[in-house]
Amino acid sequence: MGERLVKARIRERYDDLGGRLYDLRYGEEQRVKYREALSLVRLDPWMVALDNGCGTGLLVEELDAYVVGLDLSQALLREARARTASRERVHLAIGDSESLPIRSGVLDATFSFTVLPNLPHPERTLMESRRASSPGAPHIVSTHRKTMTLEEITALIERSCLKVTRVIDTEKSNDWIVLAE
Ligand SMILES: C[S@@+](CC[C@H](N)C(=O)[O-])C[C@H]1O[C@@H](n2cnc3c(N)ncnc32)[C@H](O)[C@@H]1O
Repeated sequence: MGERLVKARIRERYDDLGGRLYDLRYGEEQRVKYREALSLVRLDPWMVALDNGCGTGLLVEELDAYVVGLDLSQALLREARARTASRERVHLAIGDSESLPIRSGVLDATFSFTVLPNLPHPERTLMESRRASSPGAPHIVSTHRKTMTLEEITALIERSCLKVTRVIDTEKSNDWIVLAE
């Protein structure tokens, strides 16, 4: 199946599910991951953070920084817009995480929760996150343990020219949560 078709199917899957149902099914599970991950990075309000594959904006809501949220699904982004309507310094956009509409070197941190296994070329997403970030910026990535082993996610990150610096492996979360730089 061609890359464009794969992405169209993914978009359709999330559009059909819709934001409300996504949150009901996965909201609590995702928030547990964020709590764990946010212990790994220090964000300041003046920083610019990207949530790559932001879905319904569950994480965007929790980040105290200027946040860019990018996602393929219009339906999930609609929910993200409603969720963050009262927030200043949030910019939500439809787009492809494998080809970020962001200039090089402008991000201070990136996040990508439970997105990589959806992608035809996950290294591109990580390399794009790296390109768009300042040198040494933290990149937090999570993947469900059922979809990738720790060795697989570590190898993927290193193929993308990033270095794994911490891994959170806790029973509280279904995901590997990895900090890379
Ligand atoms: C399991 S959801 C995770 C959403 C969000 N990160 C969270 O923590 O709730 C996967 C998300 O990745 C998005 N996605 C998949 N492929 C994408 C791509 N190529 N570019 C941007 N977003 C993508 C989907 O639309 C969906 O919102």
